[in-house]
Amino acid sequence: MAHTDAELDRLLDEVLASVRAGDARLAEVVRAAVVHLHAFVREVRPTEQEWLAGLAFLARTGQTCTPRRDEFILLSDMLGLTSAVDEVNYAAVEGATPSSVEGPFHSPAPARENGAWVADGPERERAEPMVVHGRVTDTDGAPLAGATVDVWQADDVGHYDTQDADQPDGNLRALLTTDADGRYWFRSVLPASYPVPTDGPVGGLLTALGRHPMRPAHVHLRVEADGHRPITTHVFVAGDPYLGSDAAFAVKDALVVAPRRRTADDAAGWRLGGPFLELAFDVRLVAATVADEAAAVPAGVAR
Ligand SMILES: [Fe+2]
Repeated sequence: MAHTDAELDRLLDEVLASVRAGDARLAEVVRAAVVHLHAFVREVRPTEQEWLAGLAFLARTGQTCTPRRDEFILLSDMLGLTSAVDEVNYAAVEGATPSSVEGPFHSPAPARENGAWVADGPERERAEPMVVHGRVTDTDGAPLAGATVDVWQADDVGHYDTQDADQPDGNLRALLTTDADGRYWFRSVLPASYPVPTDGPVGGLLTALGRHPMRPAHVHLRVEADGHRPITTHVFVAGDPYLGSDAAFAVKDALVVAPRRRTADDAAGWRLGGPFLELAFDVRLVAATVADEAAAVPAGVAR
């Protein structure tokens, strides 16, 4: 055993010494990956069959990717790694809206006017109408006019347009621009909680681990404004049964919002004709200068 440990030490040193990248950051990243992966082998002591099975899993993960589906992002999400990368890049700033992961379903959204219907598929007739609105401001509450708000969501049965031939391309997506008061709004439907795709290798992994694949109902937003740190985040629908066990580990308390149930009396102002849900979500962006200062202090370093 001692001989094996000495040999593993020698092997690791030899691999590390072989890293001669001129790019210092690349060398740092590769060295760290080598150190951690060698430690993994030393701890787990995989059989050759297990190691090959792991490599085959990663190969299948790559082979499952298409221009409309990214199984590697899904794998990263399901292991909490995307949330970890989000955390190290977007340190919380007092008064700012927290970030959350992008997930695998973002695609370019059609530009739409504020107030537009974004539900152009069969869900418009069957699902609960929902108005989503809010203000984009800085952390002092000053409105940010001309900010872009890129939104995307699933329908009332949990499907994105890219997964569902019955939805037109760009359905339940919009690229909006805030008005002079920093406001954005659109008409949509209440999204459902949904399972991440389970017909690929990542779904097989979840099953093998005894995990459910569900994500609580949510709307995705990416908000950008000049002079401010862009943010990618979610609004989660309060009361969803999966809020406490999101398969992507992306829920933060400040991002959970209860839609208000409104009657037909309130509908005209939102260009609707009957009862609807109102989901209000303001987004507070951090000034770029403040964001740079927050990023300059690595996590774990005493302040
Ligand atoms: Fe999503």
